[in-house]
Amino acid sequence: MSVDLAGKKGMITKTAQVVTNDPVHPVVTLTVSMQVKDDLHARPQRAGKIFEADCRTCHVDQGKGKRGLELFMADCFMCHNAGKSPSITQMSRRPEKYLLKAIRDGLDNTTMPGWTTSIGGPLSDAEIDSLVKAIRNPN
Ligand code: HEC
Ligand code: HEC
Repeated sequence: MSVDLAGKKGMITKTAQVVTNDPVHPVVTLTVSMQVKDDLHARPQRAGKIFEADCRTCHVDQGKGKRGLELFMADCFMCHNAGKSPSITQMSRRPEKYLLKAIRDGLDNTTMPGWTTSIGGPLSDAEIDSLVKAIRNPN
């Protein structure tokens, strides 16, 4: 069986009939399901990679010129939404200092990169401060 994955994403199911020499059930139907990721997201990712050329258009550029909650929705929400990484409500319970450090420096062994320009990230101190404020006061 072959499956053309071009342009496909998400759960894909394909069935195939196999003829065997089993006298009772000579035709067996096989169903194969697979979770397909697009090329950019297929492999496990090093955290800072989202700042590279192939990735910036979606992961950085959307937030340009934005602050606070708008910036969060543009650059952060794609990972920090329901059921994946902590939601904005969960993070709002964290101390301000912890939030600041996590956003500036990232978190080891996760896909959370350090965003501060002082380690090559895309966000200024003022932008990061606006995020911390937005997370602490989501409403
Ligand atoms: C066309 C827009 C787009 C491009 C380009 C893009 N991403 Fe993403 N990325 C997304 C969206 C939307 C999500 C959140 C939805 C999802 O997880 O599928 C995401 C999620 C992620 C996640 C989190 C996955 C998870 O399961 O939590 C990582 C890591 C990531 N991208 C890395 C990259 C890297 C590295 C590149 C460049 C090689 C890249 N992305 C390019 C749109 C993009
Ligand atoms: C590519 C996905 C991705 C993007 C984009 C991303 N994060 Fe994260 N973030 C993570 C992951 C994964 C963790 C770690 C979750 C865990 O502890 O397992 C994390 C953790 C955090 C934490 C610590 C939360 C806690 O309760 O321990 C904060 C704060 C945070 N991110 C803020 C942000 C902000 C602000 C942005 C946008 C500038 C952002 N993140 C963008 C994936 C991402």
